[in-house]
Amino acid sequence: MPQTLKLATKVSQLTRLIPELGIKLGLKGRKRTPSILTDLPGPSTLSFLAELFCKGGLSRLHELQVQDSARFGPVWFASFGPVQTVYLAAPTLIEQLLRQEGPYPERCSFSPWVEHRRRCQRAYGLLTAEGEEWQRLRSLLAPLLLRPRASADYAEALDSVVCDLVRRLRRQRGSLGGSSDLVRDVAGEFYKFGLEGIGAVLLGSRLGCLDPEVPPETESFIRAVGSVFVSTLLTMAMPNWLNRLLPGPWDRLCRDWDQMFAFAQKHIEQREAEAATRPIGELKNTSVSGPHLTHFLFQKELPSASILGSIAELLLAGVDTVSNTLSWALYELARHPEVQTALHAEIIGAMAPGSSTHPPATILAQLPLLRAVVKEVLRLYPVIPGNSRVPNKDICVGGYVIPQNTLVTLCHYATSRDPGQFPEPNAFHPIRWLGGQPAPHPFASLPFGFGKRSCIGKRLAELELNLALAQILTHFEVRPEPGAGIIRPMTRTVLVPERSINLKFVDR
Ligand code: HEM
Repeated sequence: MPQTLKLATKVSQLTRLIPELGIKLGLKGRKRTPSILTDLPGPSTLSFLAELFCKGGLSRLHELQVQDSARFGPVWFASFGPVQTVYLAAPTLIEQLLRQEGPYPERCSFSPWVEHRRRCQRAYGLLTAEGEEWQRLRSLLAPLLLRPRASADYAEALDSVVCDLVRRLRRQRGSLGGSSDLVRDVAGEFYKFGLEGIGAVLLGSRLGCLDPEVPPETESFIRAVGSVFVSTLLTMAMPNWLNRLLPGPWDRLCRDWDQMFAFAQKHIEQREAEAATRPIGELKNTSVSGPHLTHFLFQKELPSASILGSIAELLLAGVDTVSNTLSWALYELARHPEVQTALHAEIIGAMAPGSSTHPPATILAQLPLLRAVVKEVLRLYPVIPGNSRVPNKDICVGGYVIPQNTLVTLCHYATSRDPGQFPEPNAFHPIRWLGGQPAPHPFASLPFGFGKRSCIGKRLAELELNLALAQILTHFEVRPEPGAGIIRPMTRTVLVPERSINLKFVDR
């Protein structure tokens, strides 16, 4: 009897630590009383702060997910002053949470951005709006960005941007020293590509990011987009009193956003002036600059301030995400020539007979290895390594009650490198997505998020990645820089390479 009691106590302790085990053992069906947050394991406030600020924790937040889930199990709790955070690092638990979302899901807001909009009386975009205001914007923008035809609308503009990228890569080879085929800091090049691409789609403007001489105004915009994430991370990590004492990061954040708004405004006004001078009787749905989102938003008769708020935030959201993913994709393809050869063959095989250009976007989207490569890159390097939700009602996840308004961090980096879901989790194996192996849990790798608040740029991002990979591989064989070591990711709000990726682009 005492043995049975001991066993029961052990199981109960274990299932507290590992709620998933409880689910597997069927304890959930026994109507276990839900536990409360303070029952959860987790670091003490002191060790939490030490991890965050003393051991390079801010740039290693993604690795802390893996470390903490090994230490505490798939769900843990940390508190820092009034902020209490529940961390979920198991796909089943992430699914449970996301499936209980209400009509207006909330993420942890970028509070300094919201504060900037409030103080400067700027309109919110999708990243900063909440509640009904967010839903109004979302339902307006979703058909313009997420419907399958969106690809067809924007593919032509993007294709010409990709042609410029290929020309620029040719020009950059050997320009900063090293062998004649070497392009240094490809992430920097793809960053310019990301900006040029999103500028073409959103504003119908060519910004000149890929030109030999980048216009000074575009240079300042590029700097602002790069700097805003750093100032965001700093202002969010600092308590309010410290922000008041050391106003540097906050001032920088405001300067960056003001610059981005001014840049977007200038281009929107150009499009507006263009539309005003269009001859009467010209078809209402044509645009001088080709199909672009601003033009579609004019047609919806959205107030100019709202168009500006939305476009400025989309411009920001669309740059780092695509450019970093493309950098990692080519980094991995260079290190895995056998995958690159197979992908090149797949792309060439899908070309129309006698054609020298890559297959159209609609065909590229169907190529199995290309899809698998993009999925595998996003599994290894999810641009947003840890997403979040703030439930608007009490919910039950893994046997624990999470009270409304608690910040819940979804540890996507940890789940997408979980060996239980992905054998050899740190290896680049696109083939794992081609069937023939047990499929991972559908919530194990969620690079674009899930549900009503998922990424609105998903289709656009996939289109850009497909077009860029297809053209680059048609023109070049990509090889690693001789002697270059392994490059690890680091967190800078989004996941970025910790140092420059240099690659050789050898003509085919
Ligand atoms: C590889 C590229 C990209 C990745 C991996 C990515 C990933 C994500 C993720 C994980 C979220 C949060 C989803 C959630 O909370 O469930 C998100 C939201 C968002 N993304 Fe992306 N994204 C990418 C490209 C883009 C592009 C190109 C745009 C711009 C057109 C964009 C615009 C946005 C916006 C506006 C949101 C907020 C949506 C909302 O709150 O309603 N993203 N993205």
